Amino acid sequence: MPQRRLFVTTALPYANGQFHIGHIMEYIQADVWVRTQRLLGHEVHFVGADDAHGAPIMIAAEKAGKTPQQFVADIAAGRQAYLDGFHIRFDNWHSTDAPENHQLAQEIYRALKAAGLIETRTIEQFYDPVKGMFLPDRYIKGQCPRCGAPDQYGDACEACGAVYTPTELRQPYSALSGATPELRQSEHYFFKLSHPRCVQFLQEWTSTPGRLQPEVVNKIREWFTQDDNGRVGLGDWDISRDAPYFGIEIPDAPGKYFYVWLDAPIGYLASLKNHFDKGQAANHWHAPSRTAQSYAEFIADPAVEQIHFIGKDITYFHTLFWPAMLHFSGRKTPTHVFVHGFITVSGEKMSKSRGTGIDPLRFLELGLNPEWLRYYLAAKLNPRVEDVDFNPEDFVARVNSDLIGKYVNIASRAAGFITKRFEGRLGAISPDGEALLDGLQMALPAVAELWAEREYGKAVREIMALADRVNAYVDQNKPWELAKDPALAGRLHDVCTTCIEAFRVLTAMLKPVLPATAERVEAFLRCAPLDFVNAAQPLGEGHAIAPYEHLMQRVDPKRLEALFEPPAAAPAPAAATTALPGGEAIAPTITIDDFARVDLRVARIVDCQRVEGSTKLLRLTLDVGEGRPRTVFSGIAAAYRPEDLVGKLTVLVANLAPRKMKFGVSEGMVLAASHADDQAHPGLFVLAPDAGAQPGMRIR
Ligand code: 2FM
Ligand code: ZN
Repeated sequence: MPQRRLFVTTALPYANGQFHIGHIMEYIQADVWVRTQRLLGHEVHFVGADDAHGAPIMIAAEKAGKTPQQFVADIAAGRQAYLDGFHIRFDNWHSTDAPENHQLAQEIYRALKAAGLIETRTIEQFYDPVKGMFLPDRYIKGQCPRCGAPDQYGDACEACGAVYTPTELRQPYSALSGATPELRQSEHYFFKLSHPRCVQFLQEWTSTPGRLQPEVVNKIREWFTQDDNGRVGLGDWDISRDAPYFGIEIPDAPGKYFYVWLDAPIGYLASLKNHFDKGQAANHWHAPSRTAQSYAEFIADPAVEQIHFIGKDITYFHTLFWPAMLHFSGRKTPTHVFVHGFITVSGEKMSKSRGTGIDPLRFLELGLNPEWLRYYLAAKLNPRVEDVDFNPEDFVARVNSDLIGKYVNIASRAAGFITKRFEGRLGAISPDGEALLDGLQMALPAVAELWAEREYGKAVREIMALADRVNAYVDQNKPWELAKDPALAGRLHDVCTTCIEAFRVLTAMLKPVLPATAERVEAFLRCAPLDFVNAAQPLGEGHAIAPYEHLMQRVDPKRLEALFEPPAAAPAPAAATTALPGGEAIAPTITIDDFARVDLRVARIVDCQRVEGSTKLLRLTLDVGEGRPRTVFSGIAAAYRPEDLVGKLTVLVANLAPRKMKFGVSEGMVLAASHADDQAHPGLFVLAPDAGAQPGMRIR
């Protein structure tokens, strides 16, 4: 295959928080793909940047007492620890607030304007007279126009799920100052996505075979007929925001800035340009045969493939706005937009506000191996837009039984004999060994193809199936038995040599996912950096390897559990006073105010399930009159059958801090009576209100 020229990006993260596990998953997915392309000898430029602009960042900076620039720089300074920690190798990391992006955004805008695709319109918007600024929807709160719930956001009600515009809120107030917002008019700039030229171009662009995943194309078809607000057809895009705003100024429009989403994807180009201008583009990562000279030369080359890895929530921006911006400013459009799903943790959507998810830095601090995560995520990823679940038990099983038990084990079973018995030198390979190795070598291109197709799960399964064959060979030949008989030394040498050669091929196959391990294996085997081609070349008879050092530890499930542990529990209450039967004294006196802090509510158990992997817990789905169900895990499995609880009313501690548990997040606690010494006094009784009580009623 001729050398490909690739420009690869991941979505640019907002510079108002550290990376969460969702970012890391996307970066790992892209990094595996990029490493694959490099191992195939292609030219790749893999860039990222901080998405610096927008009202939330401006407001967060103000709260932190920093300039937005300083605020963003402080966040940016924390990025490398994550990237290095998980072996994510961007060629460049930049910022959308960098000069390259200001210049490119203005250039692109001017071209769109010249193409007749920009128009201005006067719109009415809420204005905070105290802050002196127009308010984005999420900074306006008020009463839900449908159910009357207080303190709802300007776009949707969390209590009843109604969707509306901020002007429909009753008694609106600014979440920034508390002031009553005023409706004011302002001139906004629009990108005319609804223009027939635009619609026609996008219809063609999005339906080009092979460009987008089929499910993405289907979703886009819906947008062509109805946008997110239920309007018919593609709506024009409001690309301006009024000062004060942290962003890029719109040329010839004083006091107007580009909406953050206009300049964000342009940041891909800005980072690439910065990468070239720094003279890094010809670094050691790329095949020396052909490297780009300059940004201008590279980006103009029709052979260059531009590829964006993104999450499903930002598909609209990347498959409609972005290609239209590029095309109508006279630029090449993306070759592919690869969309992935979200990551869930034990089936729960992660949420930063509830403190769930896996903190990537904590993962590293706990001494968990980043390549375990890379391997685990690879095993679960595919080219479709499916969510990926991080399940702790599954994680332990895959790492320990596959990665260690099947792959690492091959080297550890064979290397010792080579070192101790044969002075570290490899021997010859007998015909049965040849057959095994041939099979592995022949699978190399197919495995490389699976990585390149983003069929990571299939690639991992294929590699593990090959590792199974090698282990079967070891089990048949039993080197530990051969080692007992000096007459069988030749056979021992041959079998262990076959294992080492096989291990080398498997290492090359796993190299996109396990770059650090592969490097250690290369040192151990004293071989050149492995790739998908040279891995087919045996090391050969007489080749000396280094003494084996263990390549990877097993996961200790306890250490993994620490990743999910809630912050240290509150101290135990003070000494009890009166002793009672059942082993528990009455707790110290509290005031009525203390009691009032506990919000007890009537809840209906609408569903109840056993929890796989737990003998104690039941998973309750509760209706507490909030318009959305709550999930609560309760340690009552020994006393109740799930089906007996469904439909019953009970009492919920509704304002207990959510707790992340191994199986998911528990959003409260149901009340049950028991004795402390349940050995002597068994029994567990879930509390229920008298008939007539309604879900949501407060218990006081
Ligand atoms: O959704 C987000 O996190 C955005 N910051 C992604 C921007 S991607 C690109 F357009 F810059
Ligand atoms: Zn409501």
